This record gives sequence, C-alpha cells and structure tokens, in this order.
Amino acid sequence: MKKILFVCLGNICRSPIAKGVALNMAYEKNLDIVVDSCGTGDYHQGEKPCANSIKIAKANNIDISKYRARAITKDDFVSFDIIVGLDESNMKNLLKMGCPKEKLFKLGSFGYDNQDVPDPYFFDGFDGFLKVFLMIETCVHNLIEEKRII
Ligand code: 4NP
Repeated sequence: MKKILFVCLGNICRSPIAKGVALNMAYEKNLDIVVDSCGTGDYHQGEKPCANSIKIAKANNIDISKYRARAITKDDFVSFDIIVGLDESNMKNLLKMGCPKEKLFKLGSFGYDNQDVPDPYFFDGFDGFLKVFLMIETCVHNLIEEKRII
C-alpha cells in the first residue's frame, strides 16, 4: 500500500483539492492507497479548505469540507512514500526541511510541463480555482497511473 502526501503552502487551497481528487480516484478504482495533504507553513492550522476550493471540488462531486489544515512534520518524511509539491517554492522548502530527494516529486511534472500549480488564493477570483482544479485533476490522474499504484 502506497502512501501519498500532497504539499502546498497553507494547506487550504491547492493540496486539499489534490487529496480529494486522489481519494476520489482511489474510491472509483478501488485502489489500496493512503492519501493526505499538508502545508509547509502553519498559518492555517486546523482550518477548513478555503470556500472556493470546497466549491470547485463539490462541483466535481468531491467533498473536501471535512479536511483540516496541518503543517508538515518530520515524521511525514518517514511515513509517506511519495511526497508531491504543488510549486517550486514548496519543493525548495521541503528539501530544506529534510524531505528525501527520492520521495519528492513536483505535481506539474505529471502532465503540465513541470509547471507550478499557481496559488489561487490571492488573485484571479473563482476562475483561478477552475484552472487550478483542471491542472491538479490531470496531474493527479497521471501520477497515480505512472507510479503504478493502481
Ligand atoms: P495554498 O494557498 O498553499 O494553496 O493553501 C495559500 C493560502 C493562504 C496562504 C498561503 C497559501 N497564506 O499565507 O495565507
């Protein structure tokens, strides 16, 4: 059983969507995986995902409203097999914090030319969340297929 961890900065916008998409796929395809998400920062510890993330996930039949934000811990680097950063800054922070290189992947490398999944929190209104959802959905599907955890 593989354990996958999605990591953004605040764990309220992007990585909860990635977790929801992966869990939804696991449910639909009966995959034996564990999925979680977290942030490199603890600014939003204990908070639910932002309203627009809940809304775009719900529009795609995924309920992320019960997720609660948490910051990454050293234990995560041991207990998870695949650690996925949403943007380059997340990747740098994760390496600085001691994430093993061989476990670390950038989500955009799975189908979006290694692009960052941009933080939709501070700009673009709801359109930003639509764009981000599509990127995340495509890349999470490709990741799960490429890593042969089906
Ligand atoms: P996320 O977006 O990393 O996709 O959860 C953020 C939301 C809020 C903040 C940072 C990132 N913040 O610093 O308030």
